[in-house]
Amino acid sequence: MSKIDKDEHSGVETTGHEWDGIKELNNPAPRWWLGVFVITVIWSIGYWVVYPAWPTLSGDGERGGTTGNTGWTQYSQLAESQAEIMARRAAYLDRFDAATFEAIQADNGLYAFALAGGASAFKDNCATCHGTGGAGASGYPNLNDDDWLWGGTVDAIEETIKFGIRANHDETRFSEMPAFADIFAEDEISDIADYVLSFSTNTIYPTRGKTLYDEQCSLCHAEDGTGDRFQGAPNLSDAIWFYGGKKGEIEAQIRRPKHGVMPNWNVRLSDSTIRQLAIYVHSLGGGETE
Ligand code: HEC
Ligand code: HEC
Repeated sequence: MSKIDKDEHSGVETTGHEWDGIKELNNPAPRWWLGVFVITVIWSIGYWVVYPAWPTLSGDGERGGTTGNTGWTQYSQLAESQAEIMARRAAYLDRFDAATFEAIQADNGLYAFALAGGASAFKDNCATCHGTGGAGASGYPNLNDDDWLWGGTVDAIEETIKFGIRANHDETRFSEMPAFADIFAEDEISDIADYVLSFSTNTIYPTRGKTLYDEQCSLCHAEDGTGDRFQGAPNLSDAIWFYGGKKGEIEAQIRRPKHGVMPNWNVRLSDSTIRQLAIYVHSLGGGETE
């Protein structure tokens, strides 16, 4: 455009841009704004000198950039605060490792330390199978209740965690319920399932169910159905079901039993962490004292 266009109201030059009759005035940027802009430019130059700012071609310096003349970096700050935390933890850990469970329980600070460490290790390693709060799911036992397959004292829990269940370790907890599909006829399996259900529901059952149960099942699950922790045989009388309490589910377990596998953690977690986990799991609500 050759002709300079002026706004007729203010007399200010326009940029020549116009939208729907609204023209853009060519006012200079305000002085205060320019001032702030200049200050930020000066500030940034100072920043480059003092702090790590630019990546370098050579890749030298802290993580491949200029280091700044103070030597401060976020990495060194992180390392410093981590070292501080580790030092504080180490002081607790030494006492923790040396103490018996009773002594830990009696010492509020130490007990809180164990629970915090256990809770965080639980989230990282156990929640995938047992749920964030340890409530379990079908096939993964609830760790909040006082129904224990293998025992609910701190020592028993610690052993379970350390060596696993049906895991790849010589000392793992191991047991196997036999499959009865080829031993019993279907109507016999049905009778046994009715008898098993009668433990928790007090319903009537065919006497044959009881006879067969006493012969074949009581060795592991006990005559009154209360189970046997030595063999990890669940209590069948408490209406808490691991694989489901519908008659069909019980029959399925009798025909071809499922067997839960829990990894042995001694290869992945330190003894201290395993002990913290045991104390944490014990605290969830179903911990036993002996
Ligand atoms: C050698 C020991 C053994 C014998 C014998 C045995 N069981 Fe089991 N049973 C187990 C074990 C161990 C489990 C748990 C499996 C697991 O933890 O994955 C189990 C699990 C079960 C469950 C699932 C419980 C739940 O909470 O979901 C039922 C039901 C059951 N058994 C019924 C029977 C019946 C009925 C018989 C007899 C016909 C029988 N068992 C014989 C060891 C045995
Ligand atoms: C891959 C899945 C899985 C992971 C991960 C896992 N568990 Fe388990 N856990 C199981 C299964 C399955 C059982 C039941 C095994 C059986 O049938 O006896 C079990 C059983 C247990 C028991 C025994 C409960 C009882 O009633 O005696 C404890 C305690 C336990 N887990 C704690 C933990 C802790 C702590 C962690 C984390 C370090 C963990 N589990 C991680 C699958 C898992």
